[in-house]
Amino acid sequence: MRGWLRRTAVFGLAMSWAALASAQDYPSRPITIVVPWAAGGPTDVVTRILGQAMSTDLKQPVVVENLGGASGTVGAARAARATPDGYTLFLHNISHATAPSLYKSLPYDPVEDFEPIGLILDVPQAVVSKNALPAKTLPELVAYLKANRDKVNLAQAGRGSGSHLCALLFMSAIDTKLTEVAYKGTGPAITDLMGGQVDVMCDQVSNTGNQIKAGTIRGYCTTIKSQVASLPDVRPCTEAGLPGFDASVWHGLYAPKGTPKPVLDRVNVALRAALRDGTVKARLAELGAVPVAETDVTPSALRSHLKAQVEKWATVIRAAKLQPE
Ligand code: MLT
Repeated sequence: MRGWLRRTAVFGLAMSWAALASAQDYPSRPITIVVPWAAGGPTDVVTRILGQAMSTDLKQPVVVENLGGASGTVGAARAARATPDGYTLFLHNISHATAPSLYKSLPYDPVEDFEPIGLILDVPQAVVSKNALPAKTLPELVAYLKANRDKVNLAQAGRGSGSHLCALLFMSAIDTKLTEVAYKGTGPAITDLMGGQVDVMCDQVSNTGNQIKAGTIRGYCTTIKSQVASLPDVRPCTEAGLPGFDASVWHGLYAPKGTPKPVLDRVNVALRAALRDGTVKARLAELGAVPVAETDVTPSALRSHLKAQVEKWATVIRAAKLQPE
């Protein structure tokens, strides 16, 4: 073997030995979960609940870093570039699958640049408005929006976000185009809805539910076919007059491509332990979030779901003639 080749081989071996040794010690310092949405919103809230329980299992602090912007793509780019050592993880939603069809020059590939760790949960959404709107029921809301389409502002979290997809379905179902206002996440959007700066939105019940129950916003219907248990007074949209309306938001946990398998396995164990925890289950149920079956909290389930969703949304977005930006 030539000298430089031997040196390269020895160096490579030393590197993989170092990666393996540090994977065995994992985790020996705090872990960051990048959330590509604003603080206080639905993704942030569920990540903090899960992160706290995972930190008990992993015996290290789990810190949430919010990096909202461009429908989650700013945070996704940061997570894709992070050192693949398990100290940066990434929790994202349905928008990870819509981004390739809506952004022309994504600086990452949602499938190829990440290691899937597991599917986590689904969250139904709700059609809501500021309290000052005169409409009290879904038919009254639809009539009001049709009559005031030029005046009404609809908040969403950017192209391809859960709230945007739901808004598109809603506007198509009622055949009314409203002026859209994009936020870095629905955390700040709902604050503006409560303050009356925007009029309507469609967002996850983990963000809207407590406000509907407290009477600080008005809820008209929820976006899955069955009754959302945490919101017994708000009927499914399908029963309230919008047949076929189905728009929940799924979430998954990832690591940057190249993260060692023993590390991914360890994080998966911690994620499953968190989802089994009684306090976590109760908090998620209160928020209306629905954990997936434990058999889907796996890399293979998330990988195939993500690939199928990238294809599904590419077809839907092409059919809707939404142009990538
Ligand atoms: C958020 O956390 O702000 C949301 O998940 C955004 C969305 O997808 O609508």
